[in-house]
Amino acid sequence: MKNILITGAAGFIGFNLTNLLLQKGYKIFGIDNFDNYYSTKIKKKRVNILKKDKNFFFKNIDITNKVILNNFFKKRKIDLIIHFAAQAGVRYSLVNPKKYVDVNIHGFLNIIDQTRKNKIKNFIYASSSSVYGDSKKFPLKEDLHLNPKNIYGLSKKLNEQIAQIYSNQFNINCIGLRFFTIYGDWGRPDMFMLKLFKAYLGKKTFYLNNFGNHKRDFTYIHDVTAALYKIIKKIKKGHQILNICSNRPIKILDIIKHFKKNKNINVKLIKMHRADVKDTHGSNTKLKKLINNFKISNFYDCFQKTYEWYVKNNIKEL
Ligand SMILES: NC(=O)c1ccc[n+]([C@@H]2O[C@H](COP(=O)([O-])OP(=O)(O)OC[C@H]3O[C@@H](n4cnc5c(N)ncnc54)[C@H](O)[C@@H]3O)[C@@H](O)[C@H]2O)c1
Repeated sequence: MKNILITGAAGFIGFNLTNLLLQKGYKIFGIDNFDNYYSTKIKKKRVNILKKDKNFFFKNIDITNKVILNNFFKKRKIDLIIHFAAQAGVRYSLVNPKKYVDVNIHGFLNIIDQTRKNKIKNFIYASSSSVYGDSKKFPLKEDLHLNPKNIYGLSKKLNEQIAQIYSNQFNINCIGLRFFTIYGDWGRPDMFMLKLFKAYLGKKTFYLNNFGNHKRDFTYIHDVTAALYKIIKKIKKGHQILNICSNRPIKILDIIKHFKKNKNINVKLIKMHRADVKDTHGSNTKLKKLINNFKISNFYDCFQKTYEWYVKNNIKEL
């Protein structure tokens, strides 16, 4: 399995995984449309880093455009598709639900259908912890009943069901990855950590939802990509679903207290956002069993590393 297509290669997880797989000697085709949900400058910077490797081949393609996708696949030999391109973020799904249907459902179908058309046997895709909704049975296990509370989570639940049907009907080997709050360098500016850094460095007030009382199962990007590298080699017949989480939820207010120890930032506590779930806390037993050893880095060390990366690369200005 040498030739891999990564959709959403200009995105946070897509970029970091592509980077690792190139180092491991894979040939990577990357596609992305530089969607402007957040800074396209960050996305272009990521792709420019990847383009330094001669085994990286990038195309600006919108996954909702079936005709262009058909042409793209016709000309290339691909062994595995890793599908990350999506409209991410739960809060924006209250503002623009249609985009989630267009990109995450129609776009998803366009990509997975290429497996059938081009006889590509292996398909890995991003699902999300959002499929669980406001469950209280922690840690969340993969076989729990799914009850998403926003259109984003619903789009991911539907992705899992579509993958199940493709796996059954066309013998596609699928793995769905339920990511839990991934953070780290080249992270997403619409997520908590980078928003906090931006507010602090810009001397702005940071607005903290749910009075900081929610917990998130923060998972470090380099732990995630190391696990994905192993998962790729574990693809087997059928459809597997895996939580990608550290199983170590952290209360957001504790992170703020830690940050405030040596930094002066004005934090305003506000009520819970309608699209958010209160807590996320996943079980990673299934993941650990599959790949034997899942390294989980210390949260506060990696939080500090992420801050240093943010400052060094002047991300606030992008
Ligand atoms: N980061 C997390 O904590 C997290 C958590 C749960 C699930 N996920 C899922 O993991 C995947 C990757 O997330 P991410 O954090 O890297 O997000 P991201 O937004 O950084 O990456 C997604 C990429 O998809 C691209 N894209 C969007 N619409 C497109 C279209 N129509 N055609 C082509 N490309 C398009 C974007 O330009 C972006 O570069 C997504 O499917 C996301 O829903 C991420």
